[in-house]
Amino acid sequence: MKSMKYVQSLAATICLSLSLSSFTIAAERSGQEIFQAMKCAKCHSTTPKPRGPSLIKIANTYPDTATLLQFFSGKSTAIVEPARAKTMRPRLRKIKKLNETDKNALATYVMEFKEK
Ligand code: HEC
Repeated sequence: MKSMKYVQSLAATICLSLSLSSFTIAAERSGQEIFQAMKCAKCHSTTPKPRGPSLIKIANTYPDTATLLQFFSGKSTAIVEPARAKTMRPRLRKIKKLNETDKNALATYVMEFKEK
């Protein structure tokens, strides 16, 4: 019954690698998921909201994702509506604490609203 044991261990290996790969997918959050989880949508949508500029306006103001990442890392100041920067500041503090992967995903998501 040596072959049976082999089949069993092969099946176990496949199961393990499948669950590991699905774990990897689950661990990596999309920019949209982060945006929802951090409740950015309370103030930002495709249309302007009373509490914040639209995602289109933000994406059109920023030249590229790298420049928005500078803002998310605290290396540049507000350029969209600097007069209202105080409202955004507590959220920016939370964004700064994200790891680089999440910060990048969030910036990429926002820049998807850029009009070509
Ligand atoms: C309570 C309302 C509110 C929430 C919640 C909020 N924002 Fe903002 N946000 C604003 C306001 C108001 C501005 C305009 C001031 C400014 O330009 O910084 C702004 C501006 C921005 C800008 C442009 C910054 C610039 O250069 O001027 C970005 C990018 C942005 N928000 C992303 C986000 C993301 C991502 C989240 C979620 C983590 C978020 N905001 C949550 C109110 C909010």
